Amino acid sequence: MVSLVLIALVLLLVLFYSQYRALQRNIRSARDSGLKYVVAPSWLPLSLFYRTWAIGYEPFEKQGVDTFIIVSPAGNVMWTCDPDVILQLTARHNDFVKPTEMLGMLNIYGPTITAAEGDEHRRYRKIAAPFLNEDTHQTVWTETISQAQSMLEHWNCNKGVGVVPDVNVDANRFALHVLSKAFFNRPMAWDDKTVIPPGHKLSYSKAISTVFKNYSTLFMIPKPVLKISPAQEHKLCLEAYDEFKIYMEEMVADEKQHIASTQDSSDNDNLLQNFVKASQSPDTETQIPDAAVFGNLFIFTLAGHETSANTLTFALSLLACRPDFQAALHADINDILGARRDTPASWTYPQDYSRLMDGHIGALMNETIRLYTVLPFIPKTNPSVQSLTVDGNKHILAANTLAIVNTSAVHRHPKYWLQPSSSPTKAAEGPPYALSSFRPEFWLNKQNVVPGSFVPFAEGFRSCLGTRFAKVEFCAAVATICAEFEVQLIGGTDTEAIKAGARRISQEVKFEMGLKPSDAIGLRFVKRR
Ligand code: HEM
Ligand SMILES: *[C@@H]1O[C@H](CO)[C@@H](O)[C@H](O)[C@H]1NC(C)=O
Ligand SMILES: *[C@@H]1O[C@H](CO)[C@@H](O)[C@H](O)[C@H]1NC(C)=O
Ligand SMILES: *[C@@H]1O[C@H](CO)[C@@H](O)[C@H](O)[C@H]1NC(C)=O
Repeated sequence: MVSLVLIALVLLLVLFYSQYRALQRNIRSARDSGLKYVVAPSWLPLSLFYRTWAIGYEPFEKQGVDTFIIVSPAGNVMWTCDPDVILQLTARHNDFVKPTEMLGMLNIYGPTITAAEGDEHRRYRKIAAPFLNEDTHQTVWTETISQAQSMLEHWNCNKGVGVVPDVNVDANRFALHVLSKAFFNRPMAWDDKTVIPPGHKLSYSKAISTVFKNYSTLFMIPKPVLKISPAQEHKLCLEAYDEFKIYMEEMVADEKQHIASTQDSSDNDNLLQNFVKASQSPDTETQIPDAAVFGNLFIFTLAGHETSANTLTFALSLLACRPDFQAALHADINDILGARRDTPASWTYPQDYSRLMDGHIGALMNETIRLYTVLPFIPKTNPSVQSLTVDGNKHILAANTLAIVNTSAVHRHPKYWLQPSSSPTKAAEGPPYALSSFRPEFWLNKQNVVPGSFVPFAEGFRSCLGTRFAKVEFCAAVATICAEFEVQLIGGTDTEAIKAGARRISQEVKFEMGLKPSDAIGLRFVKRR
């Protein structure tokens, strides 16, 4: 008995001592960097990440610097919201890479562009990039208009007023429908008549929507555990995971047949075709395994799905809270589209996209993703010692420092952005004052944006591949909805209702792989006069 206690005590001492040594070592390398540092008692729990958005610039203000290191026994993390440092981290893509071991959990169907580095990453990017061309953007434009119209119908808007209890749920469906068409050439409809084809347990739409509603569960809980879990929900997750895999396998098999039967290599390739062709490449240098086809189709759907849906949800909510800006946006749409306003099917990508995006719709999108940074931070790491210039001074960063850009902080940095106005809703909102911070007029005045201070899609070699795709989708969706309807909070347009809405979009926001509303946001769509 006594000896057991003794062993436990010795083990504890050893553990404590090794933690202590590690901490000392990490403090030394932080000190050697010459950057400001603070010592954290233990590894920053991941759960803290959700706070990044809410606190914004505050922690940097407290430290009095825009770049500092948090030291812990497990390793050092450098946080930054300095545009100049951000540009160095994103431009030097060989020096600062993705922390791939952190991202490996994304590979539930196989290797992905997001969790890959070096040659492997370059290969996937080269396969996907040609897909994101103007033909695809044309498809996105047309499909978005048609999906937005179906969504309005689904909301019963043809009767004059559509009431939507949880706009984010439908925004997710909408974004998924656009992706399915653009990526896989597989249209999805709103009047879901759940057809379950032979050999399947779930319909395509049930499988895909369940996987993308429940991906956190699939990332966090190992499949064997899900398998033996008695929870009905876990069973459904696993079933959807398997089913989506089978649907992807079928699409890939069909595509292989299609490729074999057509000599015409000039057809407009979609994402599926590009990855399937790469898996069949005779050149071993460029060939990818089948698993990478599945992994990447999955990750693209993930990357382009909630990001777009959440952006649209926040933008519509902001519009509902700012009737004055919404009226200006309506006037702008009237000006640009004139008599064609009533016939979205007649709008074209070449003729209308840029003009709409240069005006209020573009200002709305920029201001929404400035404030609601879908990805509130961008992580990088340096496999070898690197130098970094901060405030004009050279600093040495020890190898394997985790360097994280706090996007939410730089997007609200008082040096680069207007601060919250003292609007009548401000007291009701509470920090971070999302509505009072919403200043879309800034963009219309064409003011200078300091390079590196606005990075919603990241920058450089690892920047978002879907930037244009997302913009086209946002533009066509907002134009279709706003050409015909006025967006209001479900509670109406009086001051009290707007205060309640404003509080909601400031307080009820959470981070879970992406930034999203933590509760239903109810909106109604009233036919414009
Ligand atoms: C408003 C919508 C979107 C936002 C704000 C957004 C933002 C971002 C950001 C910040 C990154 C870099 C992540 C990092 O380095 O940690 C990223 C990467 C990526 N995004 Fe997006 N994204 C959006 C929509 C889309 C869409 C629609 C697609 C697909 C068509 C897409 C595909 C990708 C891919 C494939 C990557 C990984 C690129 C690489 O690692 O080389 N995104 N996105
Ligand atoms: C950046 O984000 C992390 C994660 O939420 C947070 O712990 C940290 O305090 C933030 N740092 C700054 C300086 O904003
Ligand atoms: C799956 O997603 C639905 C809808 O968001 C949610 O209600 C449910 O709790 C999730 N289940 C699991 C196991 O994650
Ligand atoms: C939105 O931001 C982008 C990127 O900074 C910029 O090029 C564009 O002009 C902005 N749009 C508007 C309407 O200001």
